[in-house]
Amino acid sequence: MKIFIDTADVGEISEAAGLGLLDGVTTNPTLIARTGRPMREVLTEICALVPGPVSGEVLSTTYDEMLKEARELAAIADNIVVKIPLIADGLRVVRTLTEAGIKTNVTLCFSPLQAALAAKAGATYISPFVGRLDDVGHEGMDVVDQILEIYDHYDFDTQVLVASVRSPGHVLHAMRMGAHVATLPLKVIHQLIKHPLTDVGLERFLADAAKIAKPK
Ligand code: G3P
Repeated sequence: MKIFIDTADVGEISEAAGLGLLDGVTTNPTLIARTGRPMREVLTEICALVPGPVSGEVLSTTYDEMLKEARELAAIADNIVVKIPLIADGLRVVRTLTEAGIKTNVTLCFSPLQAALAAKAGATYISPFVGRLDDVGHEGMDVVDQILEIYDHYDFDTQVLVASVRSPGHVLHAMRMGAHVATLPLKVIHQLIKHPLTDVGLERFLADAAKIAKPK
């Protein structure tokens, strides 16, 4: 499974890229706003930093406006993926962009049927928001499971990008289900690495290493 980072913070992206495990980046308007910087400037910097796919989201909601924005975003760099909201006009934009060879990430997906339509429109990625589904009492990962089942039946090329990930449990489920990608906050990437038994074990090994006799 590919691991993306879900942030627009260039420092966090550099840190994750330094681990050598980062396959791509996703941003959204909230994450860009948090940087306090212009979107184009931030995306240009991220695209130069990470060779993998970098999702940047359109800010409008009509077909014509989204298409114009999508083309401007796609011109930033070869690795830009245009994020489009899962609304009727959004699906029309995805179809047009796919025909033009521009990669898309359909966002704000909360049901397997929405995901099926995004795949039929030719989306490169579909982003089910698992954490936000959990927040309202649903099982976010069940939706991912159903999307994968549907995509498998019909041999869709669209990749399932598990988004709104809040914990290592989400990542474990995503990997066991065979999701193509998960986009994680930096905090969750660190949580995947860390285990208390690793820390305790290393402490003991280091203490014992100090007792090993040195050659004379
Ligand atoms: O980037 C989309 C998604 O990952 C947002 O997550 O935590 O705001 O629900 P969250």
